[in-house]
Amino acid sequence: MVFAKVKSLGLLGIDGFIIDVEADISQGLPGFDVVGLPGAAVRESRDRVRSSIKNCGFTYPVSRITVNLAPADVRKEGSVYDLPLLIALLRASGQLNIDLSGSAFVGELSLDGEVRPIHGVLPMVIAAREAGLKQVFVPSGNAAEGAVVDGIGVIPVSSVQELISHLTGEKVIPPAKPEDFPNLFVSNVSAPDFSDVCGQAAARRAIEVAAAGAHNILMIGPPGSGKSMLARRIPSILPDMTQAEALETTKIHSIAGTLPGGAGLLKSRPFRSPHHGVSVAGLAGGGSIPKPGEASLAHNGVLFLDELPEFTRVAMESLRQPLEDNFVTISRASASLTYPCSFMLVAAMNPCPCGYFGHPTRPCKCSPSVRQTYLSRISGPLLDRIDLHVEVPPVEYDQLSSNIPSESSAAIRERVNAARAIQLERFKGTNITCNSRIPAGMLKKVCPLTEEASIMLKNVFDRLGLSARAYDRLLKVARTIADLDKAEVIGTSHLAEAVQYRSLDRKYWRS
Ligand SMILES: Nc1ncnc2c1ncn2[C@@H]1O[C@H](COP(=O)(O)OP(=O)(O)OP(=O)(O)O)[C@@H](O)[C@H]1O
Ligand SMILES: [Mg+2]
Ligand SMILES: [Zn+2]
Repeated sequence: MVFAKVKSLGLLGIDGFIIDVEADISQGLPGFDVVGLPGAAVRESRDRVRSSIKNCGFTYPVSRITVNLAPADVRKEGSVYDLPLLIALLRASGQLNIDLSGSAFVGELSLDGEVRPIHGVLPMVIAAREAGLKQVFVPSGNAAEGAVVDGIGVIPVSSVQELISHLTGEKVIPPAKPEDFPNLFVSNVSAPDFSDVCGQAAARRAIEVAAAGAHNILMIGPPGSGKSMLARRIPSILPDMTQAEALETTKIHSIAGTLPGGAGLLKSRPFRSPHHGVSVAGLAGGGSIPKPGEASLAHNGVLFLDELPEFTRVAMESLRQPLEDNFVTISRASASLTYPCSFMLVAAMNPCPCGYFGHPTRPCKCSPSVRQTYLSRISGPLLDRIDLHVEVPPVEYDQLSSNIPSESSAAIRERVNAARAIQLERFKGTNITCNSRIPAGMLKKVCPLTEEASIMLKNVFDRLGLSARAYDRLLKVARTIADLDKAEVIGTSHLAEAVQYRSLDRKYWRS
């Protein structure tokens, strides 16, 4: 045989697709060409494949070898194709004669024939199942990701030798099963607890509302008041992801290579806290080999921007589209990709450079113009997309030294879960799961107001000079507050609380 075809899998955005790896061995000067839009890592496959073939007791064909990756119109990145390439060469050179039509192979090789883990196994296995394949051979280091997909055999391989023994029937490898992995479903039970936070009743309440409806929130306060501490505890009160959310979020982490070892499916919502030095590509996604950014890694969870004014203007601006559309588009010559990024933005900042503007006892050393410059670093459009603003004042001594423990995360989470359950029921049959994602067209229907609340809303609208966007956001937050109160119709108390969360920006930004 001089020609052989083996199936493999590629990635486009967060979805996998079938790739045919075709090897053609012909007479002529020895050589090795790869065609079909290979990325740099794919072209480097040759050395790894050649060395693996030799080290496993096979013969590397001394002929002209042409490898074609089809379809040719999508760029193939990474070292995923080492393994299928090796199999294709062994078949084309007559050293492996078995039917492999229902199988696909993915994996990077070391020079001595070890099969190394790759990124993106979860979406690849899903794509293989959708294409009707019977089995996928994956690196044993990625077996947990494969094991969460049912309806297809996922065979973990750790070396070429092991794979060949399996294919020839000498020593069969059992398919990966969920039971094989004790940490298959990752939940972050280890997140710190709200019971550690003394006082801060107003901030705690605002965070509860934000968590209940997945609303964006900004905390403003002096150094050491507990902003970072509060933010890091948000994961402990968020509801678990739904099955569909978990699958999508895990796909992104699979592609980015950020799944914890042995993890198959993330259950808890992600919490991402990029440093303020993060690049635009690091935050929103991109790069020469496109990768999901922090915004996408936070999909269905929290993106925490601590010390917000320290982030560059371009970084903040890059979050505009993600915040509005809940996905990012990355344009490339060969194709444009989208990564979902529906996250809850949590931001924290000091009110001024010295940190003490508005502090009850310590004087602020900043001039009004220095303060304005500082605040103006935060782009208006970003500020506009934050639904709740809350002040985090310095903690008082009495509260810090009090022996009465604060409410635990478990208790808060129970209320958040109840409010989220109401939302899931409300949006049944749609792909919306929380109030912050209510589309404009649905707003009227799902946010009925009492008569008094309607009058109040009109007054507020006129008095605060709200934009249409701010109006929509206000209603959504009021909806969540009513849900926490188990009220079907939004009343004045719900609306008044929502309005209060919108008024802080006036104090700081327009004073
Ligand atoms: N409300 C609180 N209850 C208990 N401890 C607190 C509280 N607020 C602050 N602390 C203590 O102070 C430390 C500093 O808090 P934290 O880092 O959250 O402040 P911050 O508001 O983020 O400050 P900065 O503006 O400097 O970033 C915490 O690690 C904690 O030990
Ligand atoms: Mg902090
Ligand atoms: Zn100051």
